[in-house]
Amino acid sequence: MGVTYVPVARVGEIKPGEVKPIELGGREALLVENGGNYYVCDRLCPHEGVDLRTGVVEQAQIRCANHGYRFDLATGACTMPPGGPPLTVLPVEIRGEEICVKLEW
Ligand code: FES
Repeated sequence: MGVTYVPVARVGEIKPGEVKPIELGGREALLVENGGNYYVCDRLCPHEGVDLRTGVVEQAQIRCANHGYRFDLATGACTMPPGGPPLTVLPVEIRGEEICVKLEW
């Protein structure tokens, strides 16, 4: 199995609480800072496809501004309502000064 680290930003570029749109291999995603941790997730809500850039981030979760579904940014699980559609998330690793998405195949 191989692993690739794709740099998406430098640590100093991302402000606390920032939700930054990024592109990953032609796919729209979000880079999110919360509580000193970084997360990468799909940009579109898995409920009805609204842009999560306008979502509210707190306690390592993002809440969609449309119907209020909440997703765990580490696991992608829908926490409200429980058992709702999961959000796609990707593992993040800090390598030196770079925030990288870890891709395995
Ligand atoms: S579109 Fe996001 S909760 Fe409905």
